[in-house]
Amino acid sequence: MRLRRLHPDPGDVTAEEVTSGMRLGNLAPPGRPYLVLNMVATLDGRIAIGGRSAPIGNRADRDIFHGLRTQADAVMAGAETVRAERYGRIVKNDELRARRERDGLAPDALAVVVSGRLDLPADLPLLQDSGSRVVILTGSGGAAPDAPARVELLRGEPGPDGLLALEPLLRRLREEHGVRSIVCEGGSVLNHGLMREGLVDELFLALAPKLAAGDPLTAVTGPGLEPPLDFELLSVLEAEGHLFMRYRRSPQSAVRSPQ
Ligand SMILES: NC(=O)c1ccc[n+]([C@@H]2O[C@H](COP(=O)([O-])OP(=O)(O)OC[C@H]3O[C@@H](n4cnc5c(N)ncnc54)[C@H](OP(=O)(O)O)[C@@H]3O)[C@@H](O)[C@H]2O)c1
Repeated sequence: MRLRRLHPDPGDVTAEEVTSGMRLGNLAPPGRPYLVLNMVATLDGRIAIGGRSAPIGNRADRDIFHGLRTQADAVMAGAETVRAERYGRIVKNDELRARRERDGLAPDALAVVVSGRLDLPADLPLLQDSGSRVVILTGSGGAAPDAPARVELLRGEPGPDGLLALEPLLRRLREEHGVRSIVCEGGSVLNHGLMREGLVDELFLALAPKLAAGDPLTAVTGPGLEPPLDFELLSVLEAEGHLFMRYRRSPQSAVRSPQ
C-alpha cells in the first residue's frame, strides 16, 4: 500500500518502508523499554465506533498497525481492548514474522496485557493459541488463566489512584523478560496511566476523515494531565484522505513528577 509523505521530504513511501528498521530497542532509556503508542481516531477524536476500532481506519492504517507489530519486542494493550477486539496471536503470518527476524527480533512478539482484576475470557483467541507468549500485568492475587498459550503474571502495586503503577512493571518487563521496546495499542484507560507516568516516548496517531460522535472514548481518557504533555511532529503521511502522524515526546515533557 503506497502513501504520500507530506512531511518531511515529500514523496511516495510504502507502509512496509515506514515500519521497517526502526530499531526501537536501541532508543530505550536506562532501565525501561522504549514505548511507542499507536492509535487511530476520527476527526472528532473518537477511538471506537460501535465499540470497535476497525470501522475507523483504512487499509494503510491496518498495514501500519501490523507493520508496527514487527518492530518491538512486545505488543501491549489494556484488558478492555483485548476483550473488545478479541485479540489473537499478535504476529499474523509468516511474512510478518520474517520481517521481525530481518530486523533482529524474535519471530513472535510477547503479548503484554494489563488487567488489574485479571479478567480475561478463557476463550480469547490469544489465550487459545499455543504459539503465543503472554505476560499479564495485574494487581490481582489470582492464578494465571489455564490456557494453551504460555501465560505468566507480573504482579504490581497500586498507585495513588488505585490503578496499577505501570513504571515498575515496565522495568520488570525489561529486567525479567528482556523487553527493550513496546508497541502499545491502547485503549484510553491504559494510555492515561502511561501518559501520567511519562512512559510514552512516541505516538503514532492516524486520523480518519470521519465524524462519528456516540462513543465517548478518546485516545487518552482520565483526569487532566498537569501539565499537558508536549510532542514534536516527526512525520505526516496521507492515503485516501487518512492522515498518519508520528510524534516524539518533547524533551521538556520527558520528566514527570512522581505519581
Ligand atoms: N482506535 C484505536 O486506536 C483503539 C485502540 C485501542 C482500543 N480502542 C477501543 O477502546 C475501547 C477500550 O478502551 P478502554 O479505555 O475502555 O480500555 P483499555 O485501556 O483497553 O482497558 C482498560 C482495562 O485495562 C486494565 N487497565 C488498564 N490500565 C490499568 C492500570 N493502570 N491498572 C490496572 N488495570 C488497568 C483494566 O482491566 P481490568 O478491567 O481487567 O481490571 C481496565 O479496566 C474499545 O472500544 C476499543 O475498541 C480503540
